[in-house]
Amino acid sequence: MALLKIARMGHPVLRTPAAPVEDIAAPELQRLITDMIETMDDAGGVGLAAPQVHVPSRLIVFRVPAARDDAEDAEEGAPEGVTVLINPEIEPLGDEQQLGLEGCLSIPGLRGLVPRYRRIRYSGLDAKGSPVSRIAAGFHARVVQHEMDHLDGVLYLDRMEDLADLAFESELHHLLEPADGDEPSNAG
Ligand code: NI
Repeated sequence: MALLKIARMGHPVLRTPAAPVEDIAAPELQRLITDMIETMDDAGGVGLAAPQVHVPSRLIVFRVPAARDDAEDAEEGAPEGVTVLINPEIEPLGDEQQLGLEGCLSIPGLRGLVPRYRRIRYSGLDAKGSPVSRIAAGFHARVVQHEMDHLDGVLYLDRMEDLADLAFESELHHLLEPADGDEPSNAG
């Protein structure tokens, strides 16, 4: 296992659409998954996408802390532990969007209010190549949307409606409390 270097905003890999993973059993891919989880946990993030560690592949990892599982109308609670999603796909369920605070390990020190679909369905393959399909809402849905964006070269700043809703962490208290009550989060 190894800690990987996290790309920061400005590095072109963060703006490059990632390519599908083709060989899930490849030892390099399995090692990358292990290293991404270790890197995410070391950095205190709740999610990480492969382009953030300079690998332009469609792979994300995330973890929804139990205390952040705020969805009341998902079909099931957020998964325990780390979710690995390879070649993920996402589909909004309904038009409703929510503003919530996000951060990004590639944009350290900042937080911003970002609109996201409140409920989504997502699917993909896990680290063994088995299908994963879930309905997510609230924070869980937000994390997945944030990480999926990284696979398309999109950063949360691109999604913001008003850059006045962007702040350094130390100035966060000046931002209005977001509608869904999200607290500052270290998304990936
Ligand atoms: Ni991020």
